[in-house]
Amino acid sequence: MTKTLFQPFTLNHTLQLTNRILMAPLTRCMSDANLVPTQDMVDYYARRADAGLIISEATIIRPDGQGYPNTPGLFTPEQITGWRKVTDAVHKNGGKIFAQLWHTGRVAHPHFFNNGTVLAPSAIGIEGSVPRMRELTYITPKAVTQDDIQQLIADYSQAAANAIDAGFDGIEIHGANGYLVDQFLHHDSNHRVDDYGGTPQNMSRFALEVVDAIIARIGHERTALRISPGAYFNMAGDKRDRDVFDYLLPQLEQRNLAYLHIGIFDDGMEFDYLEGRVSDYVRKRYQNTLVGVGSYTPNMANTAINDNKFDLIAVGRPFIANPDYVEKVKQGQPLTPYREDMLSTLF
Ligand code: FNR
Repeated sequence: MTKTLFQPFTLNHTLQLTNRILMAPLTRCMSDANLVPTQDMVDYYARRADAGLIISEATIIRPDGQGYPNTPGLFTPEQITGWRKVTDAVHKNGGKIFAQLWHTGRVAHPHFFNNGTVLAPSAIGIEGSVPRMRELTYITPKAVTQDDIQQLIADYSQAAANAIDAGFDGIEIHGANGYLVDQFLHHDSNHRVDDYGGTPQNMSRFALEVVDAIIARIGHERTALRISPGAYFNMAGDKRDRDVFDYLLPQLEQRNLAYLHIGIFDDGMEFDYLEGRVSDYVRKRYQNTLVGVGSYTPNMANTAINDNKFDLIAVGRPFIANPDYVEKVKQGQPLTPYREDMLSTLF
């Protein structure tokens, strides 16, 4: 019942996947004080190398992108060297790995970067505090200037080049889940009146400029993007967001990305303004390789791929609970259920 999941898949002429199961990006907050991957992280990723493709935990492109403790970076030589150990170990075990590039925008906290400035499209903060660090309440960000935007694009592009230096097979831009790129794409967080706000074209501009800068640096074959048309995390939905994604998706299709990945926790969720599920909404507007995700069992994922809902499945929580997820599914063995207390160790 999971036969399709084990068919190989060609992303493009440089990237062949041995199966259709991707390990979803999963923040674990386990890098060292300098945001360098540790040996435990090397072993954790190496154990999961039989996934068709691993997408790394979100990895910050520069210090002011940090919103959680001990999330790894890709902007210092030590971080690049640390990631090189991860990518070598994954490759040695026959796997492939992309780096997910991250800037949290208004979800950043200055505690993590010497009380620096929190940047976002507009000066609109979010409520609440950093998870498990109650004393760190979120602050109102500074709206980025056009110079800030140009610097951010340059820093995304440099982080992508650093990822290739570190031996990654490609990168996925984290444009989902209410972080910086996504903040430009939703009305809740983007009130700009310049070239980066107000219309679907303008609200899509930052995302497309980041995509284009990275493609120019490392090639479209190695560039992927994750997006959340359905606002569900760090963000409130707005029915006008639909027009932004109606514009963005055909633009992305022209870029020949390695893949487009949906960001959602449960793909059973329906959004009024998208007239249903995010995956159905995107599939209708984007014909290239699409990665589905969100509370899928192996059988559900197999059926969804057979039904042409998407081409590849990303698996998150079950991969935390089962380092041997791929082998267990292949053998039809029962999976260990995910529990939140599993987040305290890397096994
Ligand atoms: C996540 N998710 C996530 N997404 C992302 O784009 N970057 C990230 O770093 C993380 N980090 C993360 C940590 C933890 C502990 C969880 C549970 C989730 C979301 C993840 O990639 C995936 O979309 C969801 O977990 C839904 O898929 P599953 O778990 O239902 O297969």
